[in-house]
Amino acid sequence: MRFCLMTLTATLVCASSLAAAGDEPAANAPASSADSSSATDASSANDLPEGRLVYGKYMATAGDCMACHTRPDGKPFEGGLPIETPFGTIYTPNITPSKGYGIGSFSDKDFLHALQDGISPSGLPYYPALPYPSYTKVKDDDLLAIKDYLMSLEPSNYQPPETDLRWPFSVRDLMFGWQTVYLDKGRFEPDPNRSDEWNRGAYLVEGLGHCGSCHTPRNMAGATEPSKAMTGAIVDGWYAPNLTSDLDEGLGRWTVDELATFLQTGMAPAKLDASEEQDPSGAPATAALGPMAEVVHDSLSKLATSDLRAMAVYLKDLPPKTEPTHRPKVPEVLTEEAYEKGREIYAKNCSACHQDHGQGLKPYFPALRGNPVVNEERPNDVLKTLLLGAPADPSEAFSPHVVMPSFGSVLTDQQIATVASYIRANWGNDAPPVTAKEVKALRK
Ligand code: HEC
Ligand code: HEC
Ligand code: HEC
Repeated sequence: MRFCLMTLTATLVCASSLAAAGDEPAANAPASSADSSSATDASSANDLPEGRLVYGKYMATAGDCMACHTRPDGKPFEGGLPIETPFGTIYTPNITPSKGYGIGSFSDKDFLHALQDGISPSGLPYYPALPYPSYTKVKDDDLLAIKDYLMSLEPSNYQPPETDLRWPFSVRDLMFGWQTVYLDKGRFEPDPNRSDEWNRGAYLVEGLGHCGSCHTPRNMAGATEPSKAMTGAIVDGWYAPNLTSDLDEGLGRWTVDELATFLQTGMAPAKLDASEEQDPSGAPATAALGPMAEVVHDSLSKLATSDLRAMAVYLKDLPPKTEPTHRPKVPEVLTEEAYEKGREIYAKNCSACHQDHGQGLKPYFPALRGNPVVNEERPNDVLKTLLLGAPADPSEAFSPHVVMPSFGSVLTDQQIATVASYIRANWGNDAPPVTAKEVKALRK
């Protein structure tokens, strides 16, 4: 039974969030409000100094709370976003200050207990679909600033649908066991041997940013594996790549600047080889896709440049680590027939935008040559992009004005496999071919 429950939690945790309407970007990180008093109840929230609320809003953005706590077409934070699992649907709660429907009656202690310990005011455990395994690292005062901000908002009396998990998954008590074994409670401890910038980046990446909830593989119990932190994992059919400094699989070839730019804009220059200078035309670029596009839109693009740089500095310092299951490096060679078929499909469907030699066209079309997404060992992100288009929600396009159409209903599984294999093994790219079966598995 534990196995199934655990599989359930894996599914819950990995469910991706939908985009929520955004606010204006924060030009600069508001100063920490550590000195200002924190509200103890909802009624006092409106009397707080404005700086406190700006700071709380900024931290809520860093935690991407709105993305999960807002359903499509719903008001911010009123909840109701369905997260599908094989065992039923879990709906995010209303976290506006409504006393009957939201968190209006949460005390500061209740709020901290929920986000740092995963326990509700009535003493029952939450499912880790709420990323408390990351939020546990966040300082009390930063979480309470978020609470103060939430309490300053308009209460909504929207009632999200009942979470409807099938027995025994509906029995919350079972989560106590999970928490005992897998929840590593405790605040972030700065490393005195590192710079302030590194520590700030580590705090944001490991805490509110909850990057590991997608980029760290999970064990059978659906808990992230500390020994494999940030080495890459499958999320909802997408592959959230290795963020350690591994040269082939990870961010080893990215500079701090490129990484900070990607986090801010969803776009980054692509390079195949460390020794290779960036294309002088500046053409090669990669765009954030799928769940990452949402993270960039809803959260990262609104953070201060200094914070994004700090995150990049920290990530670039993660020692290279690759899962040993990865294939030995051998050059990928397509048969002549596969190459010709791929070239034909590419010429007809792709080259108008991505250009004849996969070089892309700045700033509209990312290069496929030397593109880290195309070169990922796992074909998930290429296939999801072909099946769904990019981005799936056109308002989220990173390339100005242009979206990539979906080929899911235009090309067959075999054609998608053929063109994906072609772009992955051409123009110096070097990633394994794809089968029609893999495409079929990712169709929904
Ligand atoms: C990845 C999605 C996700 C993100 C991001 C997220 N939450 Fe949640 N949150 C949930 C889910 C799902 C639940 C309900 C869990 C359950 O029912 O066991 C929840 C529950 C809560 C609760 C308990 C509400 C209640 O009525 O018991 C609070 C408070 C909360 N979240 C606040 C936040 C804050 C603050 C942030 C940002 C720092 C945040 N959440 C980010 C998914 C998310
Ligand atoms: C109408 C123009 C257009 C066509 C046709 C097109 N694409 Fe795209 N493609 C784009 C744009 C624009 C993006 C970036 C989307 C974004 O901003 O998220 C993209 C992104 C991608 C990506 C992800 C790259 C990254 O770094 O994020 C891949 C892979 C890709 N396209 C492959 C293909 C293939 C293969 C075809 C042909 C079957 C194709 N595209 C056809 C415009 C196009
Ligand atoms: C909801 C899941 C999710 C979360 C949370 C998330 N990511 Fe991602 N990330 C992905 C996926 C999926 C991809 C692959 C698609 C793409 O390349 O855009 C990705 C891609 C990336 C890439 C591009 C890597 C490459 O080699 O192309 C970087 C860098 C990155 N994420 C950094 C972060 C950071 C930093 C955080 C935390 C602030 C974060 N991600 C949080 C899912 C997530």
